[in-house]
Amino acid sequence: MTQGGAHIIAVGNEKGGSGKSTTALHLAVYLLHQGHRVATVDVDSRQQTLTRYVRNRRATIDSSGRQVPMPKHVHLPTAWGDSIRENQRAELDIFTKSMAGLRDEVDYVVIDTPGFDGNLARLAHGFANTLVTPINDSMIDLDVLARVDPVSGEPIETSPYSRNVQRARAERLATGGSGIDWVLVRNRISNLGSRNASQVQRTIDRVAARLGCRVADGIAERVIFRSLFPIGMTVFDPLEADLLGGTPSISHVNARQEYRSLVAALRLPSPISRSVASGTIRRSA
Ligand SMILES: Nc1ncnc2c1ncn2[C@@H]1O[C@H](COP(=O)(O)OP(=O)(O)OP(=O)(O)O)[C@@H](O)[C@H]1O
Ligand SMILES: [Mg+2]
Repeated sequence: MTQGGAHIIAVGNEKGGSGKSTTALHLAVYLLHQGHRVATVDVDSRQQTLTRYVRNRRATIDSSGRQVPMPKHVHLPTAWGDSIRENQRAELDIFTKSMAGLRDEVDYVVIDTPGFDGNLARLAHGFANTLVTPINDSMIDLDVLARVDPVSGEPIETSPYSRNVQRARAERLATGGSGIDWVLVRNRISNLGSRNASQVQRTIDRVAARLGCRVADGIAERVIFRSLFPIGMTVFDPLEADLLGGTPSISHVNARQEYRSLVAALRLPSPISRSVASGTIRRSA
């Protein structure tokens, strides 16, 4: 699909509440702070968490005068006509136009998807160059990727979500596009460490080998994430005590480091190397 233009990162997992929207805004804001041009796209019409997150960010900027970078934000609504086929066509049309419009306008597009299967979510996965799947740190949440033998820990059968991703990858390759680099990331890892945590890590490594995807170092469970959504901020923004209602702690610094490591693990192409690959010269910021 997109060749040579903006690099598209989809954040997806059919399991609700795994940290997709939080991860999407953190990736976008980190890339903005790095001087890149970034668009955020919300295809979760029902919850619109990313849209509200970006709106809260704008409100904080307006009320406090803080200078923090803003992404170009787009919300793509679900089509609600009577015909499923017409709806799918309308959604493909709006999605394709939207990506074509952003292609040369930004360096990275970060798409947040809903925690359920749907046409817009599938389109987002099909357009992605990189797919990031946050997974809550429990064996139950791994079920969304594969059914695992409870004794041996070996994946027995891939899940419907994984099959959708594999299908999207195959279609991309069949139409001459690049593959989808799929990266799993454990989220809300308990700071206490436990038998469950090491079991999850072992199993996720096996599942990743089976699915042909990579596993990034995870993000710990941190209270700070709860206070960020209402003010539309991320751990990469300057968070003075008056915004947070308390002093930023070491936990904040560690969370930054974890997200930085995640971005490093994604091995995103730099805008300059993409320009060379596509034969066009573009600004990187
Ligand atoms: N590392 C973390 N530590 C603590 N809380 C977290 C962490 N990551 C996310 N959360 C919290 O978990 C909840 C769900 O996160 P989020 O909305 O990002 O998930 P989601 O996958 O987008 O959910 P949905 O499937 O409903 O769209 C939120 O309250 C968020 O603040
Ligand atoms: Mg969400």
